[in-house]
Order: sequence, then structure tokens, then C-alpha cells
Amino acid sequence: MRDALGREINYLRLSITDRCNLRCRYCMPAGGIPLSAHSALLRYEELLRVARAAAALGIDRFKVTGGEPLVRRGCTDFIRALKAVSGVRQVTLTTNGLLLPPLLDELCQAGLDSVNISLDTLDNAQYQRITRRMHTADDVLAAVRQCAGRLPTRINAVLLPETADQLISLARLAEQLPVDVRFIEHMPIGGRKALSAASSSVLDRLRTVWPTLAPFGERRGNGPARYYSTPALQGYIGLIQAVSHSFCADCNRVRLTSTGILKPCLCYPQGTDLKPLLRGGAAENALSTAIEQAVWAKPAAHCFTRTQYPAEQRSMNQIGG
Ligand code: GTP
Ligand code: 5AD
Ligand code: SF4
Repeated sequence: MRDALGREINYLRLSITDRCNLRCRYCMPAGGIPLSAHSALLRYEELLRVARAAAALGIDRFKVTGGEPLVRRGCTDFIRALKAVSGVRQVTLTTNGLLLPPLLDELCQAGLDSVNISLDTLDNAQYQRITRRMHTADDVLAAVRQCAGRLPTRINAVLLPETADQLISLARLAEQLPVDVRFIEHMPIGGRKALSAASSSVLDRLRTVWPTLAPFGERRGNGPARYYSTPALQGYIGLIQAVSHSFCADCNRVRLTSTGILKPCLCYPQGTDLKPLLRGGAAENALSTAIEQAVWAKPAAHCFTRTQYPAEQRSMNQIGG
């Protein structure tokens, strides 16, 4: 399916909950956000109806996100059912990893294709300050170690001013384990200011340890990361330069919030509410038409640096990243 600018849209991010067992500073306010009522969240069967309609339109890869997707009961069964939808080629998961270990076997059996695990620092005290909870970076590392080698695993580290000294230690995970490590520029979503867009020096700093780190020409994954490799590392280093190097011209995705808003772009408040169609007895072709129209109207580029646009006030946990 193409949008009005000819971009091929083949990737749908599904946020299955706005709830999370962490309160990352850059994602949610300290007191959390008022959570949606359970009845406002799309039921799994409703999410699958959207997925079926999207798959019939040519969307063949799906990302399950949150909030923290694994706090929603039945997530594994949902992934199994999503994987079984005709036309679905790939189902991947982005998680903070804390609930992953006991679910890993089931998730692999359900057909999960890869997992992205958020880990911004290896320092336990700093991890607790960032996430405002008592879990530790070691807890997340345990999940990373279990996943590594079993299914493609990527670490997501949002670049924060206070974690500048963590860069090399995080990248070393790609030396020790077959995992990719991706550094992400913080995006000013949910009424927050950008914390740091200091990704320009990331490669220079990594090259002080791995001087031969070079761009990897081929595409990996479905997301916006650009990858770098060196024979010294088992995994790849990725940069997601969402703010400083817009990847909008090649954007391949749309996203569904946990309450059923189909958002053609992460950073604009606009979206199409699919819930009335899902709950109002609309025919399947009405759902398809709504998806097609939302995709058609996808904005040309994000508006992080353009103040004339009204900012997206939803938090990242509501949108799903
Ligand atoms: P894979 O590499 O295929 O796993 O996909 P991905 O990178 O899209 O997955 P993930 O959920 O791990 O997202 C990584 C980062 O990219 C997060 O910070 C997302 O918020 C960000 N991101 C994903 N899609 C978009 C997008 O369309 N626009 C912007 N600006 N950021 C995005
Ligand atoms: N900017 C960039 N990345 C973010 N994430 C959450 N909030 C932001 C933000 N404001 C990351 C999480 C997770 C992924 C889905 O998005 O750390 O890895
Ligand atoms: Fe939860 Fe992810 Fe937001 Fe952190 S970034 S609070 S793990 S939804």
C-alpha cells in the first residue's frame, strides 16, 4: 500500500497497552498518566481485525509495543494469533525485558521473529533513577542474555545527558553477545523537550575503541536504524537519529495506539479513530477504507523542529514509539 507521496507502507506498530511496570523519565511524567479504562483499550480480537484488514492491504510486518506489552495478559497468545493471520510475514516485539524470561519459550513457540529490549544504562542505580522503579539493569541484562542466540535481539538505548559515559559499556554487549545495540536520539513527544540530540559524536566515541566501525550497507529490521559493523563485534551498532537526520522520506509505517487511533505519523496529534468502526458493526471494507485513507494522508515529515505545528500531547507509552 502506498501513501500520497509514493512511500510503500508495509509496517504497522500495534500498541497493545498504555500500562507499564516502569516510569522512564523521558516517557512518562513522575506520577504516570491517567490510564485508559480497560474498556477503552482495543480487545485482542479487535486488534486482530485491524491486522487482518491491514495485511490484506499489503502490510506484512507488525511490531507489538506498549507501554510494556508483556504486562497485558494474553500477549503471547495474541502474538501467536497475529502470526497466523494470512499475509503476516513478521511479528516483532519491543519490551523493557523485565517480564520476558518466563515467557521466552512460549514467545519463541508462538513464532515471534525478533525482540528489542530497552536498556539505557548498565549502572543499576542510574537505571533506577531513569526508570523510577526498583528493578535493575542486571535484571534486564539477564533477559538479554537469555534471548541472545535464540532469536534476533536488539538493545534500545535512548541517549540521555547522564548516560554519556555508558556508551562504550553498552556497545560492548555487541562484542560479548550476538545482539545489536542501538542508540536512539530522544524525541520530544508528549509535551516534553528534547533531552539530547547528541548522536553526532556517538560514532567518533565508539571508534576510539573500534576504529574500523563502518556503515553496513544492507537493511536490517524494519525500523529507522542505520547500522555499523566491525569484525570485532558479533552484533551491529545502530543509530536511530530521529531528530537530527529525519528518515521520513523512507518511512514505511503507521501505528495504532492502544485505544484504537491509527496514527500516520508518530509526532502529529492527528489520527483516525478505528474504534467506532470496530464497535459499531461497520463492514470490513469500511475498516479497510479507513486504513487506506489514513495511510494516504501520512504527513511528509515529522515536525519535531517545526514550532508552527501543534505538538502531540500523548506520551510515548500511549503511542507505542
Ligand atoms: P526494528 O528495527 O525492525 O525492530 O524496528 P524499530 O526500530 O522501528 O523498533 P523499536 O520499537 O525498537 O523502535 C526503536 C525507536 O525508533 C524508538 O525510539 C521508536 O520510538 C523509534 N521509531 C520507530 N518508528 C518511528 C517513526 O516512524 N518515527 C520516529 N521518529 N521514530 C520512530
Ligand atoms: N524518544 C526516543 N525513544 C523513546 N522511547 C521511549 N520514549 C522515547 C522518546 N521520547 C523508546 C523506548 C523503547 C522504544 C519503543 O522507544 O526506550 O526502547
Ligand atoms: Fe515503560 Fe517503555 Fe515508557 Fe519506559 S519507555 S516507561 S519501559 S513504556
